Amino acid sequence: MRMTNHWKVPPAVGPEDPGILEAARLIRAGGLVAFPTETVYGLGADARSTAAVEGIFEAKGRPSDNPLIVHIAQREQVDELTEGADELSRRLMDAFWPGPLTLVLPVKPGAVSPRVTAGLATVGVRMPDHPAALALIAAAGCPVAAPSANRSGRPSPTTAEHVLADLAGRIAGVVDAGPTGVGVESTVVEVAGGDVHVLRPGGVTAAQLRTVVPRVSAPHEDAADGGSPAAAAEEPDHAPKAPGMKYTHYAPQGRLTLVDGDPERTAAWIREELRRAKAAGERTGVLAFDEHLALYDADVVLSCGSRERPEEAARRLYAALRTFDEEGATFLLAEAPDSQGLGSAVLNRLIKAAGHRLVQV
Ligand code: TXA
Ligand code: MG
Repeated sequence: MRMTNHWKVPPAVGPEDPGILEAARLIRAGGLVAFPTETVYGLGADARSTAAVEGIFEAKGRPSDNPLIVHIAQREQVDELTEGADELSRRLMDAFWPGPLTLVLPVKPGAVSPRVTAGLATVGVRMPDHPAALALIAAAGCPVAAPSANRSGRPSPTTAEHVLADLAGRIAGVVDAGPTGVGVESTVVEVAGGDVHVLRPGGVTAAQLRTVVPRVSAPHEDAADGGSPAAAAEEPDHAPKAPGMKYTHYAPQGRLTLVDGDPERTAAWIREELRRAKAAGERTGVLAFDEHLALYDADVVLSCGSRERPEEAARRLYAALRTFDEEGATFLLAEAPDSQGLGSAVLNRLIKAAGHRLVQV
């Protein structure tokens, strides 16, 4: 068990902050430092050091064939890490960096440890839109490999407290700038044959990508494309994906079922199921939109904001899943978000958390 530093920094911190300087020094020395990004907290290490990167896999308990995203603070670092970015990838960087978009590009041999890419010929690169992340990466002076700073199989952390709950004693420290803004991870894309393929939905929506590039393939991303929660839940496993998408993801201790359909029928169905579960002695939990919150009589009722604002659901999702576990809920129901905008990324994470249990009412 080692001491884990907890550096509280102001939200608009710069690279001269003493906490940032200390954290950067530890990264340069091969240590593991968690830091906020605009999406979730990441667990950072010097991407060039195999020993440091191996430390990430060990601290998280992460499967070693799942590659890591490399975080940069300046656009020129793309040329140090990759064999060069194609025209469409460059357009995406212009439009969305810094921001929640990861681009998968051909890796420059020797630029990062082979443990970062898990032996692939590509590397995922992103420039996060958070002053603390940019300050830390700039002060460290190296590309920073960083997965989400949770133990494998736990929800991604959106606060420093979540990081410490999972990793205290296993990492050198956490830079704490308060809760993250977006709440779900970055969108991972790869350009191939003139198309932009979404490998993992996230903070940048398919509709936003389409404002910049002509052809975006994002399975079930928009209702306009015929997407729906039911279709997303049945998405075949051979659809293009980031390697990490194949792993069993976070599953709450309670059995979670997603409920989709006409709002009135959804509410009636959930109320009836709660009544039955309570009679059977379950400790019940509901994740619902504000519009329906007062309708549910569960042991733990959590809000994911208004149905009209999926970005609020994204911000609250992971903390809510952690709360259900802390409260010991055994029977969980969640209202499915519409698969529009950020709702698509929220739905993707909820479907995994529910082990693909989706009820259409
Ligand atoms: O928002 C985020 O992306 C956060 C913050 C910390 O930046 N990071 C994050 O990392 O979510 P992680 O390791 O939890 O997820 C990285 C995802 C995985 O699904 C992985 O398989 C995929 O990106 N990925 C990384 N490199 C890849 C590559 N070369 N080709 C395809 N997918 C890749
Ligand atoms: Mg993760």
